[in-house]
Amino acid sequence: MTNPRSDDGERQLRAHAKINLDLRVLAARADGYHDLATVLQTIALHDTLRFRREPGRFRLLCDAPGIPADRTNLVWRAADALWAAASRSGEPEGVVVRLEKRIPAQAGLGGGSADAAAALLGLHAAWGLHLPDPALQAVAASLGADVPFFLAGGSCAGYGRGDRLTRLPDLPPHQVLVALPAFGVATPEAYRWFDEDGWPASAAPSYPVEAGAWASWLGRCRNDLEASVAARHPEIGGLVRELRSAGACLAAMSGSGSAVFGLFDEWALVEQAADRLAARGVRCVRTATLDSAGYERSLAGDLGLPGRAIVV
Ligand code: C5P
Repeated sequence: MTNPRSDDGERQLRAHAKINLDLRVLAARADGYHDLATVLQTIALHDTLRFRREPGRFRLLCDAPGIPADRTNLVWRAADALWAAASRSGEPEGVVVRLEKRIPAQAGLGGGSADAAAALLGLHAAWGLHLPDPALQAVAASLGADVPFFLAGGSCAGYGRGDRLTRLPDLPPHQVLVALPAFGVATPEAYRWFDEDGWPASAAPSYPVEAGAWASWLGRCRNDLEASVAARHPEIGGLVRELRSAGACLAAMSGSGSAVFGLFDEWALVEQAADRLAARGVRCVRTATLDSAGYERSLAGDLGLPGRAIVV
């Protein structure tokens, strides 16, 4: 694979989105989080981060509407956290990051977390650091519950806040249709609604241990947050039903919403479903699952480094 490193030393890195194939809320915790059992799956849809070495303070450039390009952006927070973890003094410097957004925000697709993980990997290379994997994983976990997954990619089970990862056998390739309601859902809000509704705690399921188990498993997948979010935003329930009747082998809300995805075996069914939704003015993204090898190739191709799948 060609390394898209241009002559001026600019390197680019793709930050892939995720969907949650399954999400069970096990218990509320004292620290404001909830213990989960979830299955995270990377998809081809991605943002792009470009890293350019340049003297002076670290800078972030992003012209996507509604995305702050300041210190509150997870890319900038990743730069601060990595700089501190490498025991460098003062403020991060020497790199400009340009962020091109494609993953919608407040959709449950992990866009901000994916950007943060890509920033960690890209800056780790640009600054010539040699932090061991567990240290990088700890920095990732300090930035958000979903961030460590994006250092690993493929199909993973997440426990605890969702950041204690176990690699699962890769889900066989599927086409994915992501339907995007016009509104977003803030993650803390979705968990608050879940608590307000008083749902009983789920038990942790045993996730597939071999690739052949996925087909029957997909029929049992569910998202415990979906009922509470759909009760406040009925469009979500409607999209799930529509994708199911369009032939999806699994349709569910991703994470805390608002995106709804359908997994399909056939491209023709995706096209039909997408056309029907688009005719009603629903924004859709046609994409596909990205397995662990594809994820590593994506990182290796972009960074010009061996892929770094990090699961602790
Ligand atoms: O870690 P992250 O920034 O993604 O989490 C945002 C918020 O979502 C948390 O502050 C918490 O309110 C909620 N959350 C939760 N349990 C999780 C993950 C997130 O309650 N496992």
